[in-house]
Amino acid sequence: EGDNPLRPKTLSEYIGQETAKENLKVFIEAAKIRGESLDHVLLYGPPGLGKTTLAGIIANELGVSLRITSGPAIEKPGDLAALLTNLNQGDVLFIDEIHRLSRSVEEILYPSMEDFSIDIITGKGQMAASYHLPLPKFTLVGATTRAGQLTAPLRDRFGVILRLELYTPQELAEIVTRSAGILDIEIKPDGALEIASRSRGTPRIANRLLKRVRDFAQVMSDGIITCDTARLALERLEIDELGLDRNDRRLLEAILNFYNGGPVGVETLAAAIGEEAVTIEDVYEPYLLQIGFLSRTPRGRCITAAACRHLGYDFPKGAVNAM
Ligand code: ADE
Repeated sequence: EGDNPLRPKTLSEYIGQETAKENLKVFIEAAKIRGESLDHVLLYGPPGLGKTTLAGIIANELGVSLRITSGPAIEKPGDLAALLTNLNQGDVLFIDEIHRLSRSVEEILYPSMEDFSIDIITGKGQMAASYHLPLPKFTLVGATTRAGQLTAPLRDRFGVILRLELYTPQELAEIVTRSAGILDIEIKPDGALEIASRSRGTPRIANRLLKRVRDFAQVMSDGIITCDTARLALERLEIDELGLDRNDRRLLEAILNFYNGGPVGVETLAAAIGEEAVTIEDVYEPYLLQIGFLSRTPRGRCITAAACRHLGYDFPKGAVNAM
């Protein structure tokens, strides 16, 4: 995780997420002025928007160490106790996918966050003993794809809650240009914008496409990424003008062809295309909703007229939903 050279290390290098960034800057500065640890921070939003990157920046700006783990990796309360007791004063503990913590682990996380102490019970029956362990004051940075997946008591213990948004093509073009500089790739501004506009609002995708487009540019031309080489490469990668890939098209076509454009429940849709419902909700839907290709209704998902037009189909007759 820590050795990706494309990850910015300071807030000033971090592009986009202006609201989250400006507020975070204040909270970090205030904590430093008071000489206190930063309040616990919850980051939520679709995958690939830079939650781990931000956790690293928070630690770096505070001048403390970062420990990275994830909800599924913490199996037992003892695993969490081991992590917490090994922190130094002020350190940042990053828990990715924090909504996937087990109930028993979550229960010892509450007093850890609130009172910076844990109660550990060892042994059974007559041999049982309880220890009260003070912890260093630390900052928990939790990440999840949706804040609504968290239990209310856990969500309530974060003093700072930041929602990350999909990036604009202009912001992504800036990120692609910065990444190209770090990777020593020559890229024209219109080449960067072409990659950016097909990256579904997501820096992780933009940086991945940059590397693949470079492959095509080096093998098929002079290695310089122009608008033309970017277009050619993205066409070969089956990524269309709006950044839709085969999975997006498969999802939209399933709604259209199997359910007359919808509405269809997300579980039914998931079964039809052989994906998990959470993958549809967290990975595919945010961008399709943002560009107005999908709508969520109480009775399920519907394809929009704009999506039908883009895919080259007629809007289904008798479909409920017009846009
Ligand atoms: N790389 C990935 N995300 C980034 C961001 N938000 N700013 C700069 N570089 C990035």
